Amino acid sequence: MIGLQDEGKPLMRAYSLVNPHYEDELEFYSIKVPNGPLTSKLQHIKVGDSVLVNSKPTGTLVADYLLPGKHLYLLGTGTGLAPFLSLIRDPEIYERYEKIVLVHGCRFVADLSYQQEIKALAEHEYLGELIRDKLIYYPTVTREAFEHTGRISTLMNNGKLFSDIGLPQPSVGDDRFMLCGSPAMLDDLVAILQDWGLDEATTKHPGHYAIERAFVEK
Ligand code: A2P
Repeated sequence: MIGLQDEGKPLMRAYSLVNPHYEDELEFYSIKVPNGPLTSKLQHIKVGDSVLVNSKPTGTLVADYLLPGKHLYLLGTGTGLAPFLSLIRDPEIYERYEKIVLVHGCRFVADLSYQQEIKALAEHEYLGELIRDKLIYYPTVTREAFEHTGRISTLMNNGKLFSDIGLPQPSVGDDRFMLCGSPAMLDDLVAILQDWGLDEATTKHPGHYAIERAFVEK
């Protein structure tokens, strides 16, 4: 949770950390909602201002919550990319899976933030070799022409995502998923995964996929 003091009271919202756990700086990725109680103010903070940060992290996109598998799919739309930017720089995740597939869905190419940073990871001083071998990055947009187009749900249903990256149609035995996006996106993707026989992971029971809301719909 991060936030600001607002009329003497803390105004807090849930955010994902973008930075990997070993970095000294905390990084967050947010949309700017013009009339949003927090982001309308947060977007104007200056160097030297104070931001409130809860010391205790919570959330479900935790590798230990998933059953072992071969391929880990990280599916995010919009700012739902944020938690995966942290995960793809965690060396431990590469020990658990043969392939990590990061899929980022946005309306427009300009919304595909962190593209350059993700591509540059292949040259990372310590993780570069692992990342070159194991990370597949698949950005897709829905409202203009691009290398990959279509909603993540459509690309999963018609199998194009899997044929494009050269991996088999997901199976209960081999494939694990983490999802982060709007409630509607999560509903659609969960329906597909359930249809394929995959079960949700919870803090109590490991499963085949874990979900996190990128924002709460008003
Ligand atoms: P679309 O352009 O077809 O609405 P948003 O900015 O609205 O959160 O959307 C981010 C991306 O997520 C867009 O590419 C959008 O596609 C896509 N999207 C929106 N709703 C869903 C959904 N229910 N399932 C999958 N993708 C979705």
